[in-house]
Amino acid sequence: MIDASVKKLLVEKAKESAVNAYSPYSGFRVGAALLCADGSIYTGCNIENASYSATVCAERVALFSAVNDGKRDFLSVAVVGGRENVGGELCPPCGVCLQTLSEFLTPDALVLLADGDGYKEFKLSELLPFGFSASNLDC
Ligand code: THU
Repeated sequence: MIDASVKKLLVEKAKESAVNAYSPYSGFRVGAALLCADGSIYTGCNIENASYSATVCAERVALFSAVNDGKRDFLSVAVVGGRENVGGELCPPCGVCLQTLSEFLTPDALVLLADGDGYKEFKLSELLPFGFSASNLDC
């Protein structure tokens, strides 16, 4: 159970991170904030590249930063995005980010998507119901 104040903080942190987005090609800013089981929070923004395909999404920047710091257990991730009114409309994580998150977050982990002044709440499994996992490699 994650306290509502912590969820709000997570969305706030994601919004702050979106300010740092490097997105000269799309003009689309994304921010993500990842809540670790120990209560720490890691953030990320999207970082685009002139080659386009080398672009890294905000969610993966946050996750890789946390994993690099030795974190392995996560409870939730908040995502905000947009061109002008960042967070004004839902910004669902892309398939690659959902797959990457699913390596570390459980199917029940909460994905918080900013929606105007509030957020909508999803389980990771709702957004990625049939992801590829380690269990698929055992056959
Ligand atoms: N983007 C993210 O940062 N996260 C997502 O899950 C979806 C898309 C970024 C990538 C690119 O810089 C911009 O949004 C437009 O696709």
